[in-house]
Amino acid sequence: KPKAIIDNHGRPVNYLRLAVTDRCNLRCFYCMPEEGIHYLPKKELLTYEEMLRLCQILASLGINKVRITGGEPFVRKDLLYFLKNLRKIKGIDKISLTTNGVLTYDYIPDLVELGISMVNLSLDTLDAENFLRITRRNEFEKVMQTFYALVESGISTKINTVVMDGKNTEDLIPLAQLTEKHPVSVRFIEEMPFNGEGNHYATLKWSHHKILDTLRQAYPNLQKLPVPAHSTATLYQVPGFQGNIGIIAAFSRTFCGTCNRIRITAQGLLKTCLYDEGVLDLKQVMRSGANDQRLEETLIHAFRHRAKDGFEAEKQRQSNHPVKESMSTIGG
Ligand code: GTP
Ligand code: 5AD
Ligand code: SF4
Repeated sequence: KPKAIIDNHGRPVNYLRLAVTDRCNLRCFYCMPEEGIHYLPKKELLTYEEMLRLCQILASLGINKVRITGGEPFVRKDLLYFLKNLRKIKGIDKISLTTNGVLTYDYIPDLVELGISMVNLSLDTLDAENFLRITRRNEFEKVMQTFYALVESGISTKINTVVMDGKNTEDLIPLAQLTEKHPVSVRFIEEMPFNGEGNHYATLKWSHHKILDTLRQAYPNLQKLPVPAHSTATLYQVPGFQGNIGIIAAFSRTFCGTCNRIRITAQGLLKTCLYDEGVLDLKQVMRSGANDQRLEETLIHAFRHRAKDGFEAEKQRQSNHPVKESMSTIGG
């Protein structure tokens, strides 16, 4: 089994986040404007064959975990066909998905059969009206149906909740409360400035400190759990509860030091850091006829030239220019 490539800063690279589409059936306002973002024409998206080819080569370079993101992955036609083929690639032993849960329900038995190890479900509130305000779509019931079916299925499930000042801070405790009876992880995420409109937040009102204080008030006996390696979240648990509660300091803390992940966007750009603008146009390399060996060399080169702390550089940049990017094109 190939060993993960060690990058130029001594970090093993073994985790790919692959965005299979930039499209989404919700309009979460922290991610994109009401009218949606400028979606790419179909031919600008990687085909499944191209993605599989990349995954095959990346697996030979030591990538063993792939997380499917978007946009919303299930908006892309025939996702299951893709997952089935991804499953066949030797060396990739963990496949996980990040989904908004609108279309996911019907596929859960297939996900179980395929051995999909983890599903992260985006859910910012347990209140139907608030769901509509945040996502601008009336799909709350379907998402909850997905939640319950996921838990029932035995797939390891994490909830992602973006904490938004004045929008869902009343929802935090009801969401955390899900961990009493369900063996899930409910993770509260600091909002990042990727809403596709270029608004930027001078100060983050709900930092991880404030989130933790809020949790501690509701659960005075909250206990800190050990942090799993490469986890974006710090984890807590209310004694006796089945699940755990996480806080992802996506905005105020840097994960750069132990970052083991690369990203491929729906249009085929390789990002070796969440904050770079794409260091390699893989679609162009493939469509210009590069053979596998050439493709492999280009990838290795990119892995050996990763930014060290893109996060700090990005903070500097944003203090001057607000970013226009949407999370939907990055894949999170
Ligand atoms: P697993 O560790 O595989 O469960 O993935 P994850 O929790 O990193 O992935 P998920 O797609 O559920 O993302 C959760 C949140 O973390 C989202 O808001 C992501 O945008 C954010 N996130 C993921 N990777 C990074 C990163 O490298 N840096 C920062 N700042 N945020 C990240
Ligand atoms: N800040 C933080 N997290 C975000 N997500 C989407 N947009 C943002 C943002 N601006 C989260 C979604 C999803 C994950 C991939 O990224 O909730 O669960
Ligand atoms: Fe869609 Fe996720 Fe963006 Fe919401 S956060 S609009 S569900 S891609």
